[in-house]
Amino acid sequence: MKEFSSSGVEDAAFSAPFDHQQPGRLRLRIHPDPALRTKAAPVERFDGNLQAIIKEMMNLMRLHEGIGLAAPQVGIALRIIVAEIGSRPIALANPEILDSSGQQEMVEGCLSLPGVEVNVVRKKRVAIDGIISRGKRIRLSVSGLAARVVQHEIDHLNGVLICDYQRASRTEAE
Ligand code: NI
Repeated sequence: MKEFSSSGVEDAAFSAPFDHQQPGRLRLRIHPDPALRTKAAPVERFDGNLQAIIKEMMNLMRLHEGIGLAAPQVGIALRIIVAEIGSRPIALANPEILDSSGQQEMVEGCLSLPGVEVNVVRKKRVAIDGIISRGKRIRLSVSGLAARVVQHEIDHLNGVLICDYQRASRTEAE
């Protein structure tokens, strides 16, 4: 996810295809790249390759001044998300929302949809479960912006983009 206030960043520097031997060459996918519509599969191997992917996703997210990134956005159809809110980085494999409450509406951006801003209603608080890089399962309760980012990134794992919410509520769009 990209914060509404951030400025756009070109991704021209990332033109090489992904190579599992060289995760340093991940490239940010831009809508309508079909990778963004793929339903990602659960991570099954918690090894050095996963850690390399997470590290590179974190680097790309920071480079593009994002606050969240999901693996399908770099062409990897695995359930991995990274986020960094208020200088607190987190990376989770196989994240699941266990419980949620409240509602909040906010304008969102997405690194894969440059220039697009959509007002999205999401849950205010979510309890999530996921696996950190070395295979340990954790549970987290998050609220506000962190809850929003988690929901946005989990949407990516299911091939859902913010423009889908725009279609659902045309009146706010144009
Ligand atoms: Ni996004």
